[in-house]
Amino acid sequence: MKKVPNIINQKLEKRFKQHSFRILKEQNDQLVDFSSNDYLGFSKSRVIYDKAHQLVLEEDQAWNGSTGSRLLTGNHHFYIQLEQQLAEFHQAEAALVFNSGYDANIGLLSAILQRNDIVICDEYAHASIRDGIQIARTKNYKFKHNDLEDLKKKIRHSRLQNKGSIYIITESIFSMDGDSPDLLELVNIAEKNDAFLIIDEAHATGVIGKNGEGLVQKMDLSDRVFARIHTFGKALGTHGAVVLGSKRLIEYLTNFSRTFIYTTALPPHSVATILSAYEEMKQTQAIQDLYRNIQLFKTQIVNNQLKSIFIESNSAIQSCIIPGNKRVKTIAKALYDAGFDVKPILAPTVPENKERLRFCLHSFNTENSINIALHFLSEWINKN
Ligand SMILES: Cc1ncc(COP(=O)(O)O)c(C=O)c1O
Repeated sequence: MKKVPNIINQKLEKRFKQHSFRILKEQNDQLVDFSSNDYLGFSKSRVIYDKAHQLVLEEDQAWNGSTGSRLLTGNHHFYIQLEQQLAEFHQAEAALVFNSGYDANIGLLSAILQRNDIVICDEYAHASIRDGIQIARTKNYKFKHNDLEDLKKKIRHSRLQNKGSIYIITESIFSMDGDSPDLLELVNIAEKNDAFLIIDEAHATGVIGKNGEGLVQKMDLSDRVFARIHTFGKALGTHGAVVLGSKRLIEYLTNFSRTFIYTTALPPHSVATILSAYEEMKQTQAIQDLYRNIQLFKTQIVNNQLKSIFIESNSAIQSCIIPGNKRVKTIAKALYDAGFDVKPILAPTVPENKERLRFCLHSFNTENSINIALHFLSEWINKN
């Protein structure tokens, strides 16, 4: 067996000592799901599965793969249909589908950011946003989480030094905290300062708005945002992502976005599944069921005297701070042994002392399981 360089061993040892060593575990379907991103249960929807299969069967030949990148041979007609429907559904001028949300953020940011631009993003922005900025090597600042006064300060500071454009990037629902920025104020600030605003709606898609259209649309701000990213791997239960924006932006990405250009397109059956999942989202009861469970969960946080440790959130992500990797892993294991799958989120994924238990709620969680899990958590906190 080949040896690995020393630095690799040292880094792994460090992870081990910090109780943050990652290993892959087989999925366990027997537990109550408080951890997947499958907010509406769409990943296992027979209706979506059958509709997607029907679409594929209606093709006059079998399709196992897409045969190439979108610009070469991979632009199956399902893609054209999907992008038209996405633009219409999300009230955007144009849409461009990427192979994942990670690819969409990297591909968008690394393409549009120029050397003399400045990017200001929320300090808790997702790794894919930070990596996209990193690849572009554009000067960048972080503003304190959801702190728009701090954002204004960073804009003033940027104005003094830059000759290019200013971009502001944030999420409409934060993946680790489940909270949201004051979007209307954010849009006003961006407009006042002639800045381009980018909103990642990964965890708002399928969750926020009557038909899961996201927070930007719910607040009627679609025309006032430069670009939006919606992902399909979470509430849509499938895979892939879309960047929404003006026709000019989509033309630019088609020409310059490397994660769009230099990769094999999704297979037609994946695109058919996304089409079917969007159809289902327009008519499902699951969004209302999810909303009901979020309200129930919040009520039970209060009833179990847990309010002080939970981060205020109206979304499907409800996180409670349990400082210390070891401690948060212990409670997650206790919940696991009691039949609940709740993931501990460890440093360095979140800052030290902000380690947390992250409950992801779903349309299909039962009232009973929510009640028992929060009661269990409350008892554990009192005893430990
Ligand atoms: C805010 C945010 N953006 C982007 C992504 C990446 O999306 P995908 O899983 O489709 O690559 C995630 C995934 O966790 C996310 O939370």
